[in-house]
Amino acid sequence: MSVQEYEDRPVAIPSELNLSSLSGKSVLITGGASGLGLAYAQAFVKAGAFVTIVDFNPQAGASAEADLAPNAMFVQCDVRKWEDLVAAFEKAVEASPRHSVDVVISNAGTIGADDIYTLDDPAGPPVKPNLRTVDVNLYGTIYTAKLAMHYFRRQPVDTDHDRCLIIKGSIAAYADQPGSPQYNISKWGARGLFRNLRRTSHRENIRVNFVAPWYVRTPILSAKIIDYLEGKGVKFATVDDCARAMLNIASDPSIHGRSLGIVPREEAPQGYVDLEHDDYQDGDFMKDWQKTVLATAQSIVDLA
Ligand SMILES: NC(=O)c1ccc[n+]([C@@H]2O[C@H](COP(=O)([O-])OP(=O)(O)OC[C@H]3O[C@@H](n4cnc5c(N)ncnc54)[C@H](O)[C@@H]3O)[C@@H](O)[C@H]2O)c1
Repeated sequence: MSVQEYEDRPVAIPSELNLSSLSGKSVLITGGASGLGLAYAQAFVKAGAFVTIVDFNPQAGASAEADLAPNAMFVQCDVRKWEDLVAAFEKAVEASPRHSVDVVISNAGTIGADDIYTLDDPAGPPVKPNLRTVDVNLYGTIYTAKLAMHYFRRQPVDTDHDRCLIIKGSIAAYADQPGSPQYNISKWGARGLFRNLRRTSHRENIRVNFVAPWYVRTPILSAKIIDYLEGKGVKFATVDDCARAMLNIASDPSIHGRSLGIVPREEAPQGYVDLEHDDYQDGDFMKDWQKTVLATAQSIVDLA
């Protein structure tokens, strides 16, 4: 496996996936005990991989482990805690068939009341906001990415192993989402991390990709919210298509630096597409500016 420098070439979505390369691989999924993360765990186990489910919900984690044993293991962990996450990676290496971590999916995420949006009584003192959503979705993703790169570099570059980091975003990484600044910030930030790492990680044979679902029916959206969206005529992407996009990236070593958007079937027959919103088009002045930054940015770091 040799990862090529990132080039602007959209992924052609295949109608059939060849999952044979996933057999025996070690996959670590944060937020893997519920919703999309659980669906990824189930899909990778079905494809013959060993999965470490990293989640802070002990009941859901234990239940997922019981369903998927012996090919999955639950490790309780809060992704906001570096030491917890280090311990989870260590356990994944210890328990997996080839003592490795080949695919890391940074998926843990949350949404909720947002103190940045909720303004306080202007006559009273300013109230320090609770930044939990940014802590989980963005800081947790940064920790997960840093550890993925560390553990990937410990294992050989051969066909038995991979070095594949998939960062979980959302369409909220591309669209303005009024009322939820922290969710918006955290997903744009995760997308920034993906766009940054894709430019250098290939030197270590590390693939970095991004997966950005549209609305999907999972526990992160309450029944009330789902009813409201349905009432507005919003179509939903599916859990199965999210899982298939993950399998697609993990099983194809040529995919690097791309963002797949998971969309309603009404929008795309396979349920996901290469979003093609992370490279500047001809005629956009940012295209030249990006070229200049690519040619100079690392030298600036060395000069500093
Ligand atoms: N469902 C959607 O519409 C949708 C759309 C776009 C993106 N996403 C993203 O997909 C990811 C998964 O969401 P989901 O829809 O499956 O929701 P979910 O609530 O079913 O799953 C989230 C999981 O993350 C875990 N988690 C939360 N905080 C954690 C922490 N600090 N440490 C460890 N684990 C933690 C939860 O326990 C849960 O198991 C999230 O990043 C979410 O933002 C979801």
